[in-house]
Parts: sequence; structure tokens; C-alpha cells
Amino acid sequence: MLEDSNNNWVIETKNLSKMYGPHLALDGLNLQIPRGAVGVLGPNGAGKSTLFKCILGLIQITSGSGKVLGFDIQKEGEKIRSKIGYMPEYDALDPGLSAIDQVRYAGEILGMNTDVATQRAHEVLEYVGLKDQRYRKIDTFSTGMKQATKLACALIHDPEILICDEPTNGLDKRARKFMLDTLRRTAEEGERTVLLSSHVMDDVQEVCSSILMIYKGKVVLQKKIDELVNQVEKEIEITIWGGASIMETQLIDNGYKVRRLGRILRVTLMDDNTIIGILKIAAECKVQVRQLKEYQPDLEDIFLLIMDKLGEEIKGTSDLMTPKHIGGN
Ligand SMILES: Nc1ncnc2c1ncn2[C@@H]1O[C@H](COP(=O)(O)OP(=O)(O)O)[C@@H](O)[C@H]1O
Ligand SMILES: [Mg+2]
Repeated sequence: MLEDSNNNWVIETKNLSKMYGPHLALDGLNLQIPRGAVGVLGPNGAGKSTLFKCILGLIQITSGSGKVLGFDIQKEGEKIRSKIGYMPEYDALDPGLSAIDQVRYAGEILGMNTDVATQRAHEVLEYVGLKDQRYRKIDTFSTGMKQATKLACALIHDPEILICDEPTNGLDKRARKFMLDTLRRTAEEGERTVLLSSHVMDDVQEVCSSILMIYKGKVVLQKKIDELVNQVEKEIEITIWGGASIMETQLIDNGYKVRRLGRILRVTLMDDNTIIGILKIAAECKVQVRQLKEYQPDLEDIFLLIMDKLGEEIKGTSDLMTPKHIGGN
């Protein structure tokens, strides 16, 4: 057991800010990240990639401080990078190299000798599902294979922390599933810390036990997923036939909280009388209730509720990719 609870954090930042010229990209982040798989969520331009680069000591922070595994991000970047595997957002591969040469090269850059790097390159390429394609040139690879190669490069030195910046971007369904399964396995089997950024809640839900949500350079939420789901109010979902808008108005006028999705109404469960109250109003409005069930909001719903509070009008996390959000203003 560690005596000082502060030592339990794998990554810790105090008032960390980063400016690009006059633009404030990270605004005084105070983070305490424990071991485990953490999903870093936020719309395009929120500051996810910037945060990762700061943690890795790849870019200079403007003010504040940060530590990774006890090392100072401003002074000990090289030590930190020897403990972190980093899968960057953009293509960092040499298309002219074979996968095996690319991955070995990643190891050599980190100071591994050629023999060790070669052996490890074979191991990690098998791990990411590229055993049979390892001698092929990268320019013949699909996006999924390129992402897997980037992951292999990040894992070459068996890092304690793995940082993956939007690893599922551009992947088809099958490649995405394989990527997420591999990341989950990496976190679980190795007891590693995995930071996974995404603008898609589903990705995070499949791999991570907690989430960190960033919005306009600020942390708006940091929580275990279990706690988050339990904290949200339950709803009664009714599917009705005819008069959905009248029913919605009546419910609201009677003090119920309602979310309407066409013929489906979700009414916040307040107490034991909620269901009887809903049915009474339905009878008064002369609408037919086709189905009534308890609805447990999922993470996507929670994300939407949070975005709603932040004043963002979106219908789903996929909306966060629309050009309106690019640039992060
Ligand atoms: N090299 C850079 N120079 C200037 N501005 C940048 C640079 N990189 C990122 N930004 C800006 O900083 C903000 C955060 O960007 P980024 O960290 O890439 O967000 P995310 O990864 O969440 O999409 C955005 O407004 C972006 O335009
Ligand atoms: Mg990014």
C-alpha cells in the first residue's frame, strides 16, 4: 500500500493551461487519473489531443504543472515517454516501410537494440492481428491495418500507460470491434492505464471504467461509469398511439419532466405514483398506451443531457463530427 494517497494517481495535473498563441486550448485542468481504462470524451476541438501532448511532454505547457507516474511533464518528458505508448491521432507511419520494419524502428527510437526490437515487433504485430501481413508495405494497408500498426508501435516497449487518440476514427465495424477488444484486453490483462479519446460514447463504454469529459478546454465531468449511470434519474418510457403532442403538453402542465421522441415519451420517474399519474393523463387525453416500461438512460443519453446543460444542441454524439463543431469555439 502506498502511504501517501497522492501517489495513487497515475497522472496528475494542477491548473494546467495551454495556449496556442492567443487561443486558450486547455483552461486550468486539475486532473487526478487513477490506474485503469479512462475514456476522454469531448467534441472536436475540445482539447483532447492537446491534453495528451502535454501529458507526453511533447508540447510546452503555458502554466500550471503535471506529473505522470511521479515524473514532471515539463522536465522529464523523455522518461515519461519511455513509460507511455502513444498512438497519435494522425497517420505517423512511413508508407514505404513494411509493418515489421516500422514497428521495429519505433522500438529502436526508444533505445531498444535491434534484436530485442525485432523480437518484440513480431510479438506485438501478432497481438494486433497483423501476423500474416507483417512483411507487407504499409502503403498497401487499409485504415484498420494502419491503425493496428500504430497500436503495435505504441506497445513495442510494453508501456505502463497507453494513450490512444481517436483510435477508431475511419474504421469499419469489424476493424473497430477488433481495435476496441484489443484495447480492453491490453487494459485488463496488463493492469495498464489506458487513456482512450473519442467523440463516440459507445467506444468509451466498451473499453473504459471511467470517463473524463472535456469541453472547450475545461473538464466538465470525471466519474466512474457505474456511478454516472446510477446517478441519473430513471424514466418511464411510454409508446403511444395518437395525440403525442397533446399528451406531452398535459404531462408538462401537470409537473412531469418529459422527453419526446416521436411516439415515444420518456417521463422522469418521481415516486410510486408516477405511473398511475401517467396513465390517468393518457386516459384524459384519450391516447392509447401501447407499451410502458422503465427506461434506464444509457451513456449516450447522459452525454446528451450534459451537452444540453452546456447549451449544445445535438441529437447524438455523431453530431459532434459535423463541421459546426470543428475548431472548438
Ligand atoms: N498546433 C496548433 N496551433 C493552434 N491551435 C491549435 C493547435 N492544435 C490545436 N489547436 C486548437 O486548440 C483547440 C484544441 O484542439 P485539440 O486538442 O486538437 O482538440 P481535440 O483533440 O479535442 O479535437 C482547438 O480549438 C484547436 O483548433
Ligand atoms: Mg484530437
